Formats: sequence, C-alpha cells, structure tokens
Amino acid sequence: MAKRTIVTMPGDGIGKVVLEETLRVLDAAGFEAEYIHGDIGWEFWCNEGNPLPDRTIELLKKHKIALFGAITSKPKDKAAAELSPALQDKGYTYYSPIVSMRQMFDLDICMRPCRTLPGNPLNFIRRGSGGQPEEPVVDVMIFRQNTEGLYGGVEWTNPDDTVYNALMTHKKFRDNFAWCPRPELAVSTRIFTKKYTSRIVRAAFEYAQKRGFDKITVCEKPNVIRETSGMMLKTAQEMSKNEFPGIRVEDVNIDAMMMWLTKNPENYNVIVAGNMFGDIVSDAFAGLIGGLGFATSAQFNPESGVAVFEPTHGSAPKYAGYETSIVNPIAMILSAVMMLEHLNENEIAGRIRKAVIDVVAEGNTRAYDMLKLRGTPDVVNQGAASTRRMADAIIAKLKA
Ligand code: NAI
Ligand code: MG
Repeated sequence: MAKRTIVTMPGDGIGKVVLEETLRVLDAAGFEAEYIHGDIGWEFWCNEGNPLPDRTIELLKKHKIALFGAITSKPKDKAAAELSPALQDKGYTYYSPIVSMRQMFDLDICMRPCRTLPGNPLNFIRRGSGGQPEEPVVDVMIFRQNTEGLYGGVEWTNPDDTVYNALMTHKKFRDNFAWCPRPELAVSTRIFTKKYTSRIVRAAFEYAQKRGFDKITVCEKPNVIRETSGMMLKTAQEMSKNEFPGIRVEDVNIDAMMMWLTKNPENYNVIVAGNMFGDIVSDAFAGLIGGLGFATSAQFNPESGVAVFEPTHGSAPKYAGYETSIVNPIAMILSAVMMLEHLNENEIAGRIRKAVIDVVAEGNTRAYDMLKLRGTPDVVNQGAASTRRMADAIIAKLKA
C-alpha cells in the first residue's frame, strides 16, 4: 500500500515536544507514513500576520489528515502589540487558528474520549455504599457539535437597528430586556441547524452501535432552551425510532450531568451535546481520567474527509522553555491512536494503546502530573519521568 501522508502541525510551546515524541512512538510501532510539516501558531502571527498561513491550509486540503500539537493564543490587543514592527498598523487582526481551521474546513464533528487507564494515580475515586474507596471505570465518548451554537460567533454589543428591531419582535425580549439602554446590551446567539445537529447525533449513534452500547445520552437543557436543545433531543429521539431501534435516548440536563458524573460516571458511554455544553462536559469527564495529560480529541468533517487529531491541552508556555521537557506526552500519543483508528490502522492503534495502558499500570514511569508535583524543572530529580522518558517507556513496551 502507498505510504500515507500526514500533515504535522506542532504549533507552539509544548505542542512541539509532545508531537515529536508521538512521531517516535508511531515509528516504533511500525506505522509507515510520510509526515509533512505545517506551520501554525504564534510565530506565524508575529512574522506574517497570519497564525494559519495559506500554505498550511493547502496542505490540509491536499492531505486531509493532520496531527496537531497546540498553539498559543492571546487577546486581540496583546496580539497586535506582538506583531513584528513591519506589520504593525497594517490592518492585521488576530483570530485563533484553531477556530479558523474549524470554520474553514467545517470540522463539525468533535469526538472527545475519556477512558480510565487502570493504575493512573489521577483516576477519580469515590466512596462506595460501605464507605470504602472505589474507582469507577470511565469509558465515555463525548460527541460535541463543533461549529455552531454559542461558539458560532453571531453576536453583538450595542446592536444596530435591524438587529434590535428584530429582537423586539419577540415578546420575551420586549417584556424582559426593552428597559436596557442599547449600548449596554450584549447578545450572543445560539444557533443550531437541523443538518449539523443530525450529523453529530448520527455520529453518536453510529459509535454506540459499533461499540455495542444500547443508549446515547443527550446532554443539553431542552426544558429551558427549548428551540436548540429541543431540536437536538427531538432529532435523537426520531433517529432512535427510525434508524437505530436498538439504541435508546437518555435526556440528561447539562447541570444535572455535572453532578451525576462524579456520582456514577460508569453509567455513561456515549454523550452528545452542542458546542458549549460539549466543551464543558468533556472537560469535566477529562478531570475524572487524569486531566490535561490524558485528554484527547478528534475533529473532522465526514464529507471532505479532513480530520485533525490533537490533545485538548494548550501550549503550556511556562513549561515550554525547560531544558528537559517534563510534560506528559500521553494525551498527544492517544490522539495519534485516534488517528490510526480513524484510518482503520486498528492493529497498530491497539498495540500503542496497550503499550500506554501497560506503562501506566506498571507505575514505574510517571510524569510530574501523575505524581501530583508542581511542574518545576526539578521534578525529574524527584522521580518524575521527562516527556522523552515517558515516550521511551511506551516504545520499550512496543518492542517487548
Ligand atoms: P494549557 O493547557 O496550555 O496548560 C494549563 C496547565 O495544564 C499547564 O500549566 C500544566 O500545568 C497543565 N498541562 C497542560 N498540558 C499538560 C501536559 N501535556 N502534561 C502535563 N500537564 C499539562 O492551558 P493554558 O495555560 O490556559 O493556555 C496556554 C496557552 O495555550 C494559551 O495561549 C492558550 O490560548 C493556549 N491553548 C491552546 C489550546 C490548543 O491549542 N488546542 C487549548 C487550550 C489553550
Ligand atoms: Mg475546553
């Protein structure tokens, strides 16, 4: 078979290190690919006025599959101040390259798995009915609609006449908000479309079917946010009836979910939500399985086939300059495993996942986060594995 081409976008800070270590792991596992570097991040904003250069967009269009580390993002005014002097006051505006990438490639499906790795000292522990500590096994995939809803960017402060008058056609707006002076009014919309709502819900059903689960959980708030959350719940209920009769739909409000997930996280396997609630619920579950050193994600468009795999953590600038990198590469490595599964390279994916599971279970190699240390450069002298040593331990398991 022809070698695959993967676009690698290390980005900023620790994104560079964790991606480099992940490529070593992929190599050691025998995954044959050609990697093409894609520029993204702060350096390109500062020097070119664009954190997602056109040449990177072309690479993504052409090769479709990408591994992404992390980028540094800063508020607009800070970004403007750090632009190279030659580009100052030339009308450049900073936009997050992640959001741009999502919008440009319409990466509407976001999958965020949270699975317990046995032996991880960061796993969530609760008390059982007899007061004894117990460690529930978390195995959940969160399907987050990635392009619409509250992050859709349709918002105003001091809305103009057209917008204001349109709002005034709604009785609730007239009754509850007409008193507010317009310059003091901020409006962010929450738009759901049937097309994209159906796509995320269908992705959740298909995953449930593949894994043999008999339930998906819609995590929204349809009793209050009737139109949008209501659309997602109804879409799921209809799809269950018409297309996935063996899979039922459970309706759990986002606020209640924040409570249930520490009481009985093992009750959930497939969760589907809009953009913001999906963001929230996936971070909350990630906290139960070890947090940022372990949380991974995939975003893709099923039609174009463009798919980007990444850890959910950022560039952690305070750790980026360490002579010996201390951050945990597992989130990035497991993101690459998701990529392999997406590419149907299941055998290699399985071996890497097993190597990670074995290293964590054995407990001889633990990054500073797993030892609950503060992330100082000194942690390697306190027994914490460096980024490289963790990757080496995983590679050693692959070769054992
Ligand atoms: P962050 O995720 O970069 O770091 C927060 C803290 O989490 C770190 O200080 C560290 O204690 C811990 N951490 C993160 N990754 C870790 C790892 N692999 N192993 C062990 N510990 C880890 O978030 P922060 O500090 O809020 O943002 C830093 C920069 O990253 C900002 O510029 C932000 O905009 C950007 N960011 C980028 C994201 C992306 O590229 N997808 C996502 C989140 C933030
Ligand atoms: Mg988040």
